Amino acid sequence: MTSILDGKATSLAIEAELTDAVTSRLGSGKKRPHLAAVLVGDNPASRAYVGHKVKACARVGFESTLVERPLDISQEELLQVVHELNLDPEVDGFIVQLPLPDHINDQEVLEAVLPSKDVDGFHPVNAGKMALDLPCFLPATPMGIMSLLERANIDTQGKHAVILGRSSIVGTPMALLLRRNGVPGNCTVTVCHSRTQDLADHTRRADILVAAIGRAHFVTEDMVKPGAVVIDVGINRIPDATKKSGHRLTGDVDFDNVKSKCSWITPVPGGVGPMTIASLMQNTLTACAQKDA
Ligand code: GUN
Repeated sequence: MTSILDGKATSLAIEAELTDAVTSRLGSGKKRPHLAAVLVGDNPASRAYVGHKVKACARVGFESTLVERPLDISQEELLQVVHELNLDPEVDGFIVQLPLPDHINDQEVLEAVLPSKDVDGFHPVNAGKMALDLPCFLPATPMGIMSLLERANIDTQGKHAVILGRSSIVGTPMALLLRRNGVPGNCTVTVCHSRTQDLADHTRRADILVAAIGRAHFVTEDMVKPGAVVIDVGINRIPDATKKSGHRLTGDVDFDNVKSKCSWITPVPGGVGPMTIASLMQNTLTACAQKDA
């Protein structure tokens, strides 16, 4: 029997908790949490993601600011935007939406963000603390996946987790979190990537399979162990003539054929995506609360 890991419903439960937390903060005279997002250029996917973040802020009662800059912004100008947000006492946390244009040095921009406002968890200070299991901002997508596993009471202890993808945003932090001594956690983790040999041999041994490679329907039925928990991080645009936009979103997993083989599976949309947003909101509340003292 396959169960759907409903990220949408779980994110709504988290949003309800966040809404209550905001009400209680305001009731005791504390500041309303405020998230800012920097969007460079007009990549439609990035614009859509940032739009989801701004809308989520409104739903839970956070303030939000969208800082839009043109594609040809210079490195210095973008660093100046970051410095201003670092110094702005109204802004509790902020993100710089990726990808940035090719002429921008992403790493320099991410390192300019004050770690205490780095609600994306991309600054090396936060990444380092995560690796050492110290309190920090966790990157939103792996954090959301951990929450989803936790709230569905999925037993991860001693299980073999296989992660497809080694990005610094998803694959690498996911491996660290799943192998942590905790609940969820205590997995034995294999990280597969573009140079992995005999990939399907690895995926077929996964009790928990996390697909984060950005290739539509890459994970097929023959690659999945019966009873596995399958987490699909992919958000791929594929042509669809039946849609007004001419495209639809689909995951890295061939959901229709893989579904019946799993114990649990996340849909796309409605799985990991809403959990990513909810986690960013949780980090923003934490950033705000840390300034109370
Ligand atoms: N681009 C893709 N995922 C993310 C994310 O989690 N944060 C930011 N800032 N950019 C992204």
